[in-house]
Amino acid sequence: MTKGMFPEDFLWGAATSSYQIEGAWDADGRGPSIWDEFCRQPGRVVGGDRGDVACDSYRRYADDVALLKELGAQVYRFSVSWPRVFPSGTGAVNRAGLHYYHHLVDALLAQGIRPFCTLYHWDLPQALQAKGGWENRATIDAFVEYSDLLFREFHQKIDLWITFNEPFCSSFVGNYFGIHAPGKTDLAAALACAHHQLVAHGLAATRFRQLVAQGKASGSLGIAPNITWAEPYTESEADRQACLRSIQWSWDWFLDPVCLGAYPEPLLTWFANHGVHPPVVEGDWEAIKQPLDFVGGNYYCASVNLHDATPAGGLLESSQVDMGWEKSDNGWPLTPEGFTRSLVRIANKYRGLPIYITENGLCLNDAQDQRRIVYLDQHLRALARALAQGVPVKGYLAWSLLDNFEWAEGYSKRFGLVFVDFSTGTRTPKPSFYWYRDQISEFGRTPTTVSK
Ligand code: BGC
Repeated sequence: MTKGMFPEDFLWGAATSSYQIEGAWDADGRGPSIWDEFCRQPGRVVGGDRGDVACDSYRRYADDVALLKELGAQVYRFSVSWPRVFPSGTGAVNRAGLHYYHHLVDALLAQGIRPFCTLYHWDLPQALQAKGGWENRATIDAFVEYSDLLFREFHQKIDLWITFNEPFCSSFVGNYFGIHAPGKTDLAAALACAHHQLVAHGLAATRFRQLVAQGKASGSLGIAPNITWAEPYTESEADRQACLRSIQWSWDWFLDPVCLGAYPEPLLTWFANHGVHPPVVEGDWEAIKQPLDFVGGNYYCASVNLHDATPAGGLLESSQVDMGWEKSDNGWPLTPEGFTRSLVRIANKYRGLPIYITENGLCLNDAQDQRRIVYLDQHLRALARALAQGVPVKGYLAWSLLDNFEWAEGYSKRFGLVFVDFSTGTRTPKPSFYWYRDQISEFGRTPTTVSK
């Protein structure tokens, strides 16, 4: 790679999320989340693993910041655990939980690392789930209350905000496929969750703009959907439509409402033909369609799909074809070309919208780590090809800084640049950590310092 491939002001960093790394599940007044509850249900998570301790970042955050410093990271994406701040989801604030994030953010700022905060990375307070969770419109108001608190609290400390991480997962994977918390298998419920997350995003964005106008909050705000590319197996219209439905589900279903003010066709009709509709009420479109400052994209892999009306094709009648390509240790094909194509598609569809790659990385359990280096190298080159075509990518955050709790896969799948011994919490940088550090030092500019 050469220096000119990335803009001077491109931001380099790494990402994590609260439930996956913090542990300390009941410390200092934290309330339970839906993942605490889900992990305790037999058979939900591989090995019966739970996030009770995870990487213990709640206590070891200074170690994580030191690692970020050693990496040369300019930006660190983390998420706030909603039940740590509002143990009951709404109402009384747990100041001790809030203090943890102040300590973390202050430690980052002291090292010149810019905090990039995700408000919702799937750990809904269980108290809200008990009242219907995202199926219940009241959760929208609770999310705005929670967002409002964080925007004000971290005014002049955090200037990059994401409302929802991969809302496809927290609505459909959690409520239709039943693989993630809360573990439901009800399409109508999942559509309601997705719709209410969109309204919550829009109302939180509106609140953010109001606070910025009043000088009480600062920075820019976006949303981070899954970017999952699908290439048709043949040139047939049926295969093309099967791919389009797949892309529309994970990605357009969220970005089209926010950016274009409508759910995407033909998926809306497809769902309607299955007897389900998003529960839109008057005023929702005005709430949802709010200007974004940027879109966050999480890209891992692409697939080749064909139209398949048998049960194997699932709801979308879209089956993935195994092309025999090399795969990661969680079975995802290595497809950097899909990264370039996804980025070009975003740029063409939502013109001018800046993009941050908020996650990209490889599941690899081999401590030798060579394949992770190859993956990162290939994906950075794919990103550079998109940049060369004029796609406005502003930064790249590797997933993940640390090996961590990989949701339904528990601790059986490792994505970290840093190896974590989960029995002791010891962190050991892998070869890919040093490789990525060298890329940052080669291509990155001096880290920006954000005033406190
Ligand atoms: C999520 C992360 C997850 C990663 C790897 C994304 O779906 O945002 O939380 O660990 O991909 O599966």
